[in-house]
Amino acid sequence: MKILLFGKNGQVGWELVRSLSVLGEVIALSSSSRDFCGNLSYPEGVASTVRKTSPQVIVIASAYTAVDKAESEPALAATLNRDSPAAIAREASRFGSLLVHYSTDYVYDGSGSAPRVETDDPRPLNVYGRTKLQGDNAIQEAGCLWLIFRTSWVHSPRNHNFPKTILRLAKQRESLNVVCDQIGAPTSAELLADATAHAILQTLDDPSKCGLYHLCASGETSWHEYAQFICQTARDLGHTLPTTKIEPVPSSAYPSIAKRPLNSRLDTSKFCRTFGLQLPPWQFGVQRTINELLIHNSF
Ligand SMILES: NC(=O)c1ccc[n+]([C@@H]2O[C@H](COP(=O)([O-])OP(=O)(O)OC[C@H]3O[C@@H](n4cnc5c(N)ncnc54)[C@H](OP(=O)(O)O)[C@@H]3O)[C@@H](O)[C@H]2O)c1
Repeated sequence: MKILLFGKNGQVGWELVRSLSVLGEVIALSSSSRDFCGNLSYPEGVASTVRKTSPQVIVIASAYTAVDKAESEPALAATLNRDSPAAIAREASRFGSLLVHYSTDYVYDGSGSAPRVETDDPRPLNVYGRTKLQGDNAIQEAGCLWLIFRTSWVHSPRNHNFPKTILRLAKQRESLNVVCDQIGAPTSAELLADATAHAILQTLDDPSKCGLYHLCASGETSWHEYAQFICQTARDLGHTLPTTKIEPVPSSAYPSIAKRPLNSRLDTSKFCRTFGLQLPPWQFGVQRTINELLIHNSF
């Protein structure tokens, strides 16, 4: 089986190179790949990559993910998150390829406290969420075989993410203020990649499994509790951190350029039921990420 992967250097993309490699030949591209265009700024370029490689499975792990910066670069965010996935989906439809794409809790408005289900109306609060939703819709309208996984609070030992930021700050400061009223589930890129490989195999076997799924680790936490857990895990692993206080603050006291949802809870029962998997508690993946970050001192 030939698998075309866009975004091999991202958090999820890096793990997918590993998890997809047991399924077949993986053509893994970054934005600067030379043999084939992997740059989502060029919808026609990435579409031509699909034509040239004619893969059985396409996975898009690259995206415009800079949530605050997207507010001042809406056109670029739309090209990467809407136009290129749409162009890839049209080619997937012509070749009969299965297209796998990742989306986000940020397509929802975060109201209430109930976990969102896949049939809930999306109502994004920011440019990133709007452009990701437009990408989801374009894929669904293209007529290809598709899987879309909406996930939340992704972390890994690579790229920019919350555990890295907290460990870096905890080495520098005695106290930290962390938002306590946004609730979600930190999800490891490793879990997403492994679950994706499993879902691809099952969907190729039974295309009725195509569809939209919420996919994140189980349990829930706030950014504040998450920060405490990160520091405690690092201490348990024998690392000394000068930070002694992690203060809870409301989002209103910590304004960001892009508005973020307060309730990022995602109900994953459809994914678990369809693919016969159980999703581990969020702490499991975070402990592995912290361990890796500390071993390589890469924060
Ligand atoms: N991070 C989160 O908390 C989170 C939460 C929910 C959903 N998601 C979704 O999960 C997916 C994976 O996210 P992630 O956290 O793994 O992303 P990430 O680590 O931020 O990586 C994004 C990748 O996109 C690539 N990229 C940026 N500009 C590009 C361009 N013009 N053309 C091609 N590639 C480009 C970069 O690749 P190069 O290095 O090759 O430039 C980068 O490696 C995305 O769809 C994201 O929307 C993420």
